[in-house]
Amino acid sequence: METPIADFVNAYRKSGVSRLHMPGHKGQGPLGCESLDITEIAGADALYQADGIIARSESNAAALFGTAATFYSTEGSSQCIRAMLYLAVLHASISGERPVIVAARNAHQSFVLAAALLDVEIVWLWPEESPFSLCRCNVSHVQLERVLRTLPRPPAAVYVTAPDYLGSTPDVAALAATAHRFKVPLLVDGAHGAYLKFLPHGAHPIDLGADLCCDSAHKTLPVLTGGAYLHVGPRAPADFIENGKRALALFGSTSPSYLILQSLDLVNYRLAEDYPQRLASCAVRLEALRADLRGGGWRITQSDPLKLTISAAESGWDGRDMAALLRRGNVECEYADPDFVVLMATPENAERDFKQIGSALGRNPRQGPLRRPSPCLFPPEKACSPREAAFSPSESVPAARATGRILAAPTVGCPPAIPVVVGGERIAQDAVEVFAYYDISSVQVIPDH
Ligand SMILES: Cc1ncc(COP(=O)(O)O)c(C=O)c1O
Repeated sequence: METPIADFVNAYRKSGVSRLHMPGHKGQGPLGCESLDITEIAGADALYQADGIIARSESNAAALFGTAATFYSTEGSSQCIRAMLYLAVLHASISGERPVIVAARNAHQSFVLAAALLDVEIVWLWPEESPFSLCRCNVSHVQLERVLRTLPRPPAAVYVTAPDYLGSTPDVAALAATAHRFKVPLLVDGAHGAYLKFLPHGAHPIDLGADLCCDSAHKTLPVLTGGAYLHVGPRAPADFIENGKRALALFGSTSPSYLILQSLDLVNYRLAEDYPQRLASCAVRLEALRADLRGGGWRITQSDPLKLTISAAESGWDGRDMAALLRRGNVECEYADPDFVVLMATPENAERDFKQIGSALGRNPRQGPLRRPSPCLFPPEKACSPREAAFSPSESVPAARATGRILAAPTVGCPPAIPVVVGGERIAQDAVEVFAYYDISSVQVIPDH
């Protein structure tokens, strides 16, 4: 597969042209990558008005992902999520009333902040299973149908995260079918799932019926941090393609990183070559590691194939202590909370990495789960809209003393950047307990007077 962006930049680098344009480093500097870091010069196309090398590269990505269109983002899924909400609101073209989006509660903060910016009302789908985890919200199509039936008019979109931070995935195909029966588009935050397309059984949300899906290419593919895709599904409304660039431009810098664009361009070549085979081998290796760890007394949670999610609490550990144990064994995990430790592997990991995980954990010396009460989070009272909250004055208060206050802006631990309470909601005692559980020590609230 051709790599037009990388080829152009490489030729430019070798051309000896005097760079009387931005960036100021002029192609030289301590990082070593400066000569490849250009801007939108003649021939380099323009990300938000692409009709040259960027457009060609994006259509290569669309062909690989089997989408109607794939647009590049150099500012992560966060930018794509804002663009998805904008597209849904634009498509719904509701005048005079605030648009509504029905969303699973484990949404990333970029969704919540986009809703505040665009004045979207969120109808939350709360997790129906227990025990509680901030990261997880496996909503069912039955639950979605129930909520859609109670709304006075169809929402602008249904929004879910798949897979979530722990690697759990709701039934996207069933959710898409339900949303479509109500003539509502399904938007999927697939930040953790770009690689799913390249599994033998095609588990990517676009293949399962999503109308829009963002993927952080950088999270699971060999792409520089910030590289992401906004995919439009084959049966999505046509205006999602027409307005896709406009939507991304609304939330993006006018100086997109060409290092990231080259990285997205080059990965097309790799995805078209032996990536599926390398992915399949990595999945097999991880499955073998899971089996070894189970044999050593560790409780492994079901997840998407590239995550290794250890149920720390069920293994007798606080996840943060287990992360420290891994660190002592020279392994750095992606995420740890009191209940879980998440390791993310890709085909770029070497055999040494998998061995190191095994030796860092060894045999679990503890038997039986950690016995401690886990908190619960109940749907809170809505005092004002996320937008009103975002535009209100605010003050920081200790989370432990926030009961009864209205949240102004979500305080999130990152990762997973999932808000416990959303702007405009009144903080109840159960939320204060969840703050403590996840080490959130202060929150931004609206002043009382
Ligand atoms: C579920 C989820 N959605 C969206 C994002 C934002 O992605 P990005 O960092 O690519 O902007 C993240 C980031 O960790 C995430 O975990």
